Amino acid sequence: RSNVKIAPSLLSSDFADLKNEIEKVTHAGADWLHVDVMDGNFVPNLTLGMPIVKAMKPHAKIPLDVHLMIEKPERYIEQFIAAGSDYLTLHVESTDVLEESLKKIKSLGAKAGITLRPKTSLESIKPYLHLVDLVLVMTVEPGFGGQSFMSEQVQKIKDLKNWREENSANYLIEVDGGIAAGTAQTCIAAGADVLVAGSAVFKGEKTVENYRQNIQALK
Ligand code: DX5
Ligand code: ZN
Repeated sequence: RSNVKIAPSLLSSDFADLKNEIEKVTHAGADWLHVDVMDGNFVPNLTLGMPIVKAMKPHAKIPLDVHLMIEKPERYIEQFIAAGSDYLTLHVESTDVLEESLKKIKSLGAKAGITLRPKTSLESIKPYLHLVDLVLVMTVEPGFGGQSFMSEQVQKIKDLKNWREENSANYLIEVDGGIAAGTAQTCIAAGADVLVAGSAVFKGEKTVENYRQNIQALK
């Protein structure tokens, strides 16, 4: 068993029963809770915003890992952190003020993350890697749960691991999209520190025992 962290993506949970879903995955051994924020603009889907993060926070005993898939996220940084985000991750393609925004996240006391679409090159985020606590590698096109893992993205995990060593950086490497038992193993071998998984964690019976089995299968 690896010591990779598992961050269940609540996108695949029952939104009408969010409080219980949070408590169940936490008891089942989740390390973080991954929250997918979509604006129907940066990605073709709409999910949730700051009020829901705020409502979740009192029930969350583990870190809230908030993945912003919204245009101009700088408009909402303060509000997402006030709502209780522990990690706040921004897409390089979504803003013209990335460096300033990452610094703002850190100055407000949260951890700053950066991410990129599958088609975006790693080169485009290299100037920011010394600023961030987390790098999220997308292994699906952002927007929906339940898509298939893009194995050609695995090289980015390896490159990020090497870059971190060569440059004495200390971000965590997180992978998001299409994670299931087999693809989890591939990502762990490539150097992933945190795995996001939606459908693979929330599939089947809505019980702590089932979620625990699903999480253990990924580890
Ligand atoms: C997709 C989201 C993912 C999604 C993953 O845009 O960023 O977090 O919920 O879902 P699965 O694990 O089902 O691919
Ligand atoms: Zn996500």
